[in-house]
Amino acid sequence: MKIIEVKNYEEMSKRAADYVVEKVRSFPGITLGLATGGTPLGLYRHLIEDHRNNLTSYQNVTTFNLDEYAGCDETDPHSYRYFMNESLFNHIDINKANTFIPRGDGEDMEREAQEYEQLIASHGGIDLQILGIGSNGHIGFNEPGTSFQSQTHIVELTDSTREANARFFDRIEDVPLKAITMGIATIMRSKEILLLVSGPNKREAFSRLMHEEVNEQFPVSVLKNHPAVTVMIDQAAGCLDYTPGSGDLEYVPHD
Ligand code: PGA
Repeated sequence: MKIIEVKNYEEMSKRAADYVVEKVRSFPGITLGLATGGTPLGLYRHLIEDHRNNLTSYQNVTTFNLDEYAGCDETDPHSYRYFMNESLFNHIDINKANTFIPRGDGEDMEREAQEYEQLIASHGGIDLQILGIGSNGHIGFNEPGTSFQSQTHIVELTDSTREANARFFDRIEDVPLKAITMGIATIMRSKEILLLVSGPNKREAFSRLMHEEVNEQFPVSVLKNHPAVTVMIDQAAGCLDYTPGSGDLEYVPHD
């Protein structure tokens, strides 16, 4: 795991965008795994800016998003499909037919989950997965206790996740109780992972990532078992309590 410390959210977003653009330019047919939430918004803003200024093309790119709320169709402004269209897809030259997000409004969610898993496999898997981290250590909507063997599946959201996401809704009661998410095994099959960690409310989670053994009660810890993870973390989320030299971690401090 390579940990790159950056100054702040803006620098993290710009460096993450540079990282993604470089991949897309060197492999125009890349399959990207994408995330929603507040963290990747700056990254997407920079990708749009780069697309406008430098004409980086996404015509041959395929994307798979991590998750979607249950009961939200794509016209619902709270749906992750809506979020992705507004935050990225509408502003670059990607073919929407090549952008996949699990459907949260399907009649048979279990079947949808299985088909999503197969769809990822049929595209040869994900080359680069963008990830955020929940304050409870979730990745995607894989809450603490989720099996590391899990494939795309239906989950009940924890209170802490619903509280964290309530800022996108009028009332916490409106935050869906369930979601469909790539499983931890699905995420781990990505060839490469870029984890973005920003802000003081991620500080404790990052500290746990540094100090805890890999365990299912802290889902993000599984990334220590992945051979190609880059973490970009800003100073507010804190590298301060990290002691270089433990395990296979490579630490690149901010200069
Ligand atoms: P956030 O969410 O980017 O809105 O903080 C991250 C996550 O829950 O994975």
